[in-house]
Amino acid sequence: MSDHTVAGNVRVPEQAAPERRALERGAPEPGGPGTHAVPGHVAVIMDGNGRWAESKGLPRTEGHRQGEATLAEVVRAADDLGIGWFTAYGFSTENWSRPKLEVDFILSLHKNIFDRRLEMHRNNVRIRCIGRPVAGTSRLPRRILREMQESVELTKGNTGLNFTLAFDYGSREELVYAARNLLEAHVSEGAVIDERSFARFLYEPAMPPVDLLVRTSGEQRLSNFLLWQSVGAPFYVTSTYWPDFGRAELAAAVDWWRGAPQDDPAGEPVAEEIARRATNA
Ligand code: FPP
Repeated sequence: MSDHTVAGNVRVPEQAAPERRALERGAPEPGGPGTHAVPGHVAVIMDGNGRWAESKGLPRTEGHRQGEATLAEVVRAADDLGIGWFTAYGFSTENWSRPKLEVDFILSLHKNIFDRRLEMHRNNVRIRCIGRPVAGTSRLPRRILREMQESVELTKGNTGLNFTLAFDYGSREELVYAARNLLEAHVSEGAVIDERSFARFLYEPAMPPVDLLVRTSGEQRLSNFLLWQSVGAPFYVTSTYWPDFGRAELAAAVDWWRGAPQDDPAGEPVAEEIARRATNA
């Protein structure tokens, strides 16, 4: 176990054994058309809740309510497919600028997802969170932070799917957070500053690179999500609104990934990769 916690500053010098096991499940298998490989890490930008509701003449809140139920179903589907890591963008730092009633409603849905922690625990799912709560700078209600912490604690020994909720999350803030903590470690302990050490100071140091990035509702934007982790990820965009994205859609995205061109090993420190290639040349 690392000393990674939801509240308070995080110092994670090394990955310990369970983190390495989690990484093993998250390791991508060789892909390619016609294979049955699955991506090690799938990340989703859940978009289109409001449009889904409007298309049915319903209030936007109904779209979010259905969106939460869809998320629970897609987590089960990801687990059934054998995906190692599944990360969902639940609430961004930008989402605070929405009308207060809508923000309050979305936050109440986050409680629902944490209420599902017992079911996830039974299924050996490990719940993780990334975002301001990790840095101790979140203005989320204390009860939500407590439920988040309880979910993380309850499931920290699980070895199945790693389900990470990006919650009050912004990727630029994450990079600044990592830079600040690495700099502190550099000053106090002489920590080396390179890509590998930088990655250890992200909100979730055990998280492997994203192999497949999915966005629903047709938009082709990253929206401040996992900038570091998604550097080489193929981007699957579907016009389906998030509440309608289910098991079949996830399977279709994985199918698409099998045939997608693969980048160089994403997340592998550049200097090390160059040295390795030079040695092999
Ligand atoms: C996008 O829909 C989704 C969000 C703003 C984030 C909220 C996500 C959910 C409610 C899904 C369930 C997850 C949790 C953890 C509660 P949108 O409102 O931007 O849709 P629009 O672009 O059609 O307006």
